[in-house]
Amino acid sequence: MSTQDTEQYKITKEPFYEAQSNEVALYSAAYGARLPMMVKGPTGCGKSRFIEYMAWKLGRPLITVACNEDMTASDLVGRYLLDANGTRWLDGPLTTAARIGAICYLDEIVEARQDTTVVIHPLTDHRRTLPLDKKGELVEAHADFQLVISYNPGYQSLMKDLKQSTKQRFVALDFDYAGTELEADILVKETGIDKAIAEKLVQVGVTARNLKGHGLDEGISTRLLVYAASLINGGIAARDACRMALVRPITDDADIRSTLDHAIDAVFD
Ligand SMILES: Nc1ncnc2c1ncn2[C@@H]1O[C@H](COP(=O)(O)OP(=O)(O)OP(=O)(O)O)[C@@H](O)[C@H]1O
Ligand SMILES: [Mg+2]
Repeated sequence: MSTQDTEQYKITKEPFYEAQSNEVALYSAAYGARLPMMVKGPTGCGKSRFIEYMAWKLGRPLITVACNEDMTASDLVGRYLLDANGTRWLDGPLTTAARIGAICYLDEIVEARQDTTVVIHPLTDHRRTLPLDKKGELVEAHADFQLVISYNPGYQSLMKDLKQSTKQRFVALDFDYAGTELEADILVKETGIDKAIAEKLVQVGVTARNLKGHGLDEGISTRLLVYAASLINGGIAARDACRMALVRPITDDADIRSTLDHAIDAVFD
């Protein structure tokens, strides 16, 4: 594996990440012990940003894979390809990460089928190996390799959950939306929006989060608040930006939409 491959996955610029608690120290300790890590929390609360930040801080390349139910073990591990010169083996992202000592981030791992998920087992226990069955090779993970998975608790059906034998290979960190002050600060730093407007956006977010379980499956994410702030920065009126970024994407229920629209009107009166 050439150094070029490693460089390609290096994060060169510090990603903006506002810590909520002691997660940076906890993650650093887990990485120090090379423990596989699970990050849990609702959509758009900063999990991926945190992993990017940690990869940058630890100086490790980051390889991210968005998992889906059509994904096969070969998509992770690699496969033989046919080309003009015959067949050629191509490493999958997991194999590349294990070889170069990257942090491999499997996003939304529960979406993958269980027969796909089990390929990570030998990499996530004392063996730290990855068997490439089709190639007849046993890859020993680089000393700096670490596996990270993300997981949105609560979205899983019984059919779609990780097996205990998979879960119990990881340490886990819970994430949630930042507290109001911190979240407003994130909006300001991420988008350059006015502090007063950021605080109002967060207020709308809090209102929606209180409706979770009362007609809403999930509250408004920090990601959507960032969208709204960007629209307002682009000259869109706050009420329109909020309707478009915060309300229309999350629900089709007329009553809930009207409740949220009224909350927006009250906040931005
Ligand atoms: N603590 C934070 N520091 C900086 N930015 C944040 C933070 N939390 C959230 N954000 C902002 O929210 C956006 C969404 O965060 P991110 O993509 O990390 O969510 P996620 O938890 O990975 O969501 P998903 O489960 O949908 O993948 C980021 O692009 C960033 O703008
Ligand atoms: Mg993510």
